[in-house]
Amino acid sequence: MNIVLMGPPGAGKGTQAEFIKKEYPIPHISTGDMFRDAVNRETELGKEAKKYMDTGKLVPDEITIGIVEERLAEDDCKTGFLLDGFPRTTVQAEALDKVLSSSGRKIDVAINIAVPNEILIKRLSGRVSCKECKVVYNLQSNPPATEGICDKCGGELIQRSDDLGETVAERLKVYQEQTNPLLAYYSRQNVLQEIDGNRDSKLVFADIKNRLESLK
Ligand code: AP5
Ligand code: MG
Repeated sequence: MNIVLMGPPGAGKGTQAEFIKKEYPIPHISTGDMFRDAVNRETELGKEAKKYMDTGKLVPDEITIGIVEERLAEDDCKTGFLLDGFPRTTVQAEALDKVLSSSGRKIDVAINIAVPNEILIKRLSGRVSCKECKVVYNLQSNPPATEGICDKCGGELIQRSDDLGETVAERLKVYQEQTNPLLAYYSRQNVLQEIDGNRDSKLVFADIKNRLESLK
């Protein structure tokens, strides 16, 4: 199945992607993770992306579309994929449709995880993630067993630099202006599934799974 996972910053896209991956063996493609990896490795792409990420802005479409197109051309995406955080603009959504249709594919479902802004801000301020294996925790709702240490691999837990101060407000504004209009785009294609993300993450996943099963 070809899945797009949508929702504002902190909605739980990464959290739900982990559940989905365990149930359905398809590659998880997160543009945010790809950019953060490039920033950590200090590649040219990383240096360019960092300028936008640190201020809560979107990385330009031509850069983002290029890396996703390359990834979708890999063999493991032939039987399905889970896109997390892409597309985020109408230009990206149209480019995605074009590249998929050129290889006889299409988006089967766009899942939108909706959460009120005040909850998003609280979640982002409490998020920490593992520097090594990238697993995400929350200091309030899902803390690690030992402070600062990943339960899964023992790696160091860090806070994302874009989860601080004004960058969060800017990310929420950018989402509202540039990404929210995509809900209408996928609704017109009859592939949009709206999910209430303001519940325990296991309940959110149960709902997502039901919707995915009904599409089989
Ligand atoms: P990206 O990494 O995609 O960030 P985002 O969209 O802002 O989303 P987040 O990763 O912050 O949140 P999430 O929905 O994954 O939530 P999570 O599961 O972690 O993008 C970062 C930047 O990269 C962008 O700002 C941009 O600059 C650039 N970029 C990326 N893609 C791009 C694109 N396509 N075009 C242009 N630029 C792009 O959960 C958050 C917290 O909440 C965690 O602590 C978690 O434990 C907790 N939590 C999750 N679910 C629940 C729940 N149900 N109940 C309670 N707590 C929960
Ligand atoms: Mg994420």
